[in-house]
Amino acid sequence: MTLIEAGPSGLLRLAPSILAADFGALASAVEAIDEETDWIHVDVMDGHFVPNVSIGPPVVESLRRYSGKFFDCHLMMTDPGAYLEAFAKAGADGCTVHVEVGGTAALIQDARSLGLRVGLAANPDTSFADVAPFLADIDLLLLMTVFPGFGGQSFMGDVMDKVKVARHEIDTQELALDLEVDGGIDVTTAPIAVNAGANVLVAGSAIFSRANPLDAARALRTAAVTARS
Ligand code: DX5
Ligand code: ZN
Repeated sequence: MTLIEAGPSGLLRLAPSILAADFGALASAVEAIDEETDWIHVDVMDGHFVPNVSIGPPVVESLRRYSGKFFDCHLMMTDPGAYLEAFAKAGADGCTVHVEVGGTAALIQDARSLGLRVGLAANPDTSFADVAPFLADIDLLLLMTVFPGFGGQSFMGDVMDKVKVARHEIDTQELALDLEVDGGIDVTTAPIAVNAGANVLVAGSAIFSRANPLDAARALRTAAVTARS
């Protein structure tokens, strides 16, 4: 594993999003960046919660054979509860559901009972108050820095106020909670997110759309670590 130094806000983790990789060569894409990967971020889109369709449990199951890393599955789905078991069986390590779909308490319980690490996601225009009641029951809070649905969008800096509030609550309540940001993360925006309090950085385009994804991941990690020090 390449987990880097522990800080007051927990480990900093780089989570490359395979959404930006070549779907025809996913195994070699994840293998190529393995040494700079902490988590593999799997973006699951159902064509309903978001206007795009991506991948599901069969791809997780296949990819599982090529990577021992933590599979961080981001379920952009209207009905994630119907698929949690399939993701768990396929080899997902963690599943993140969106607070906007409702039924959050039951979804958290279902994911937990399947042995999954549990994440809760909030869109850029969803307030911190909507996720706050669940903080003690989850392992990861994902604050979207773009509106979900597509890779390659621009980072929304105004979400950083919410990241700061979340970091303050996590530290004040001494919660063992990862704070993840997703969308438009690159060498310029990663330090901004880390300085605001994020400790898990999802990046798709900034890694897989580059000529050398491994070098790009390394540069991203360096930028994030530098921001921390
Ligand atoms: C957006 C996805 C993100 C996205 C990140 O719907 O949840 O994970 O793929 O891609 P980049 O890094 O290209 O913004
Ligand atoms: Zn995502």
